Amino acid sequence: MPSQSKYILGISAYYHDSAACVLRDGEIVAAASEERFTRKKGDAAFPAKAAAYCLREARIGVSDLAAVGFYDKPILKFERILETYLGVAPRGFSSFLKAGPLWVKEKLFTDREMRTAIGALADPRAESPAPFEGDLLYAEHHESHAASAFYPSPFENAAILTMDGVGEWATASIGVGRGADLQILKELRWPNSLGLLYSAFTYYTGFKVNSGEYKVMGLAPYGEPRYVDLIYKHLVDLHEDGSFTLNQKYFNYVSGLTMTSEAFNDLFGGPPRVPETDLTQKEMDLARSVQVVCEDVMLRMAQTAKRETQLDAVCLAGGVALNCVGNGRLLREGPFKDLWIQPAAGDAGGALGVAQLIWHRHFNQPRVVATGRDGRPRDAMKGAYLGPGFSDAEIEAFLKRVGAPYEKMDPKAIPFRIAEIMAEGSIVGWFNGRMEFGPRALGSRSIIGDARNPRMQADMNIKIKFREGFRPFAPSVLRERVADWFEMDCDSPYMLLVAPVKRERQIPMTKEQNETLWGIAKLNVLRSDIPAVTHIDYSARVQTVSDETNPAYHALITAFESLTGCPVIVNTSFNVRGEPIVCTPDDAYRCFMRTHIDYLVLGPYLLSKTAQGAWNEDAGAWQREFQLD
Ligand SMILES: [Fe+2]
Repeated sequence: MPSQSKYILGISAYYHDSAACVLRDGEIVAAASEERFTRKKGDAAFPAKAAAYCLREARIGVSDLAAVGFYDKPILKFERILETYLGVAPRGFSSFLKAGPLWVKEKLFTDREMRTAIGALADPRAESPAPFEGDLLYAEHHESHAASAFYPSPFENAAILTMDGVGEWATASIGVGRGADLQILKELRWPNSLGLLYSAFTYYTGFKVNSGEYKVMGLAPYGEPRYVDLIYKHLVDLHEDGSFTLNQKYFNYVSGLTMTSEAFNDLFGGPPRVPETDLTQKEMDLARSVQVVCEDVMLRMAQTAKRETQLDAVCLAGGVALNCVGNGRLLREGPFKDLWIQPAAGDAGGALGVAQLIWHRHFNQPRVVATGRDGRPRDAMKGAYLGPGFSDAEIEAFLKRVGAPYEKMDPKAIPFRIAEIMAEGSIVGWFNGRMEFGPRALGSRSIIGDARNPRMQADMNIKIKFREGFRPFAPSVLRERVADWFEMDCDSPYMLLVAPVKRERQIPMTKEQNETLWGIAKLNVLRSDIPAVTHIDYSARVQTVSDETNPAYHALITAFESLTGCPVIVNTSFNVRGEPIVCTPDDAYRCFMRTHIDYLVLGPYLLSKTAQGAWNEDAGAWQREFQLD
């Protein structure tokens, strides 16, 4: 009964990637990003649709909420913005004028406006909705990240490391969680920021800040770390404890609207790469160099966290925790035995963090670590499958409405049927169960294919994702088989750890290939028996799949293994370039029809591309709808 349980709504908004989350007596009932509903990538508006969905999933209304939490303190953030601009005026003045109106209108919102937005969730059509009158509580940005990392983790006690661009003032923090108690011990402050350093190189190498960081990480293996010394000599003064000072002469994010300054351009030999132009060895070397520096900082911060806490486990969150190459190194070379990373490590996860802080701190509730079927501790994220799901009846009603030819499969036959289709070389849109929370698709809203197929990587990049072809895809592997295929033997359910493909499966490049092939051409060389997911340095962004959190996906890969001997498939997010991952059957069908996906699986319904009618859109329609990322 709603009246007997305590419900908390967590909100993150007004920066990038808004999201909402609902807890029932501390348990995560639902969490989702606003972009999935509005179809605007990284939507930063108040998450009205995501919050409405979370309330619907919990079967409650606004009046049932015991409290609402906001993931940061807008006044502190505005103070930082204001002091920054005043401190560097008049150089900063022109950009303040440009950035000003947005801040005044949306970011410097008041408590009253927030209450009105929450009140409107009760009746979105009401002209003047009654404001929410319950408890509205604010946490600090890095505290929200830290809470999202520690509270759902499988650890009773753990060190906590948060790293991102910036929230209010902090850009990184070291904390400790013990039971229900969470404390921040140290923080690094703006403008010294690992996230912004990485973003500066993202900008300079011609990718989009706040989404292209992942591409820089993917480009790094092509390069040599030849700029590392230059970065340490001029840009980054790295201290022994992992804290550092950035030489602001080389950056422009404090005072201007670009990330890097003229001095940066001079140091690295020219202006930033123009987006969408050819990548050169220089961008590859820059990517490798900033990645090396990022890993150095992560490892040193982890050493400090270990020294401060003397604990065996560490939890990570904040945008930098999405750097799965760095995470993999931290696990292999760092001082901690155990590592857990919040899958929604970016600002979306702050909604979940603040809600949990309220549950444990404001309502003073104890924390009980979740356990799995085997009785061992496990995380409380439910595989991150916390978004909307659709019943068979809803899917069938949709298919009838659009007149799409389909076949309803016998549920028991689905795994083998789809495994056969994949083994023949077809690409499948796989829409199954509740949508993932966080930026990665984990087998609910995924495009999947045969990882052994040498053509799969190029086909998926060019014909489906319409994106640059320099990145291989991520593998989904049965948890119980991961050690047979990769140099790791631990859970990586959220695709946040990178590990090498098992050594005996690697195919070394020949001397001739090494001498004649350059840059991206190397990706076409067969480097293992699962080439579609093997990067040129033999690394892979591994997702382990467990029967407990996603039985349908696990059954599919199990069937694929019995058919082919290979328990590994390709998994990439179900979207085209620049599009938020699909949420509804409608989104999935549109993406299926716009691309060269061969088959679409919507729950038990199978659609073949060849059976569909003509699609009434020109080929460039998606490009007009979604801005390239
Ligand atoms: Fe953040």
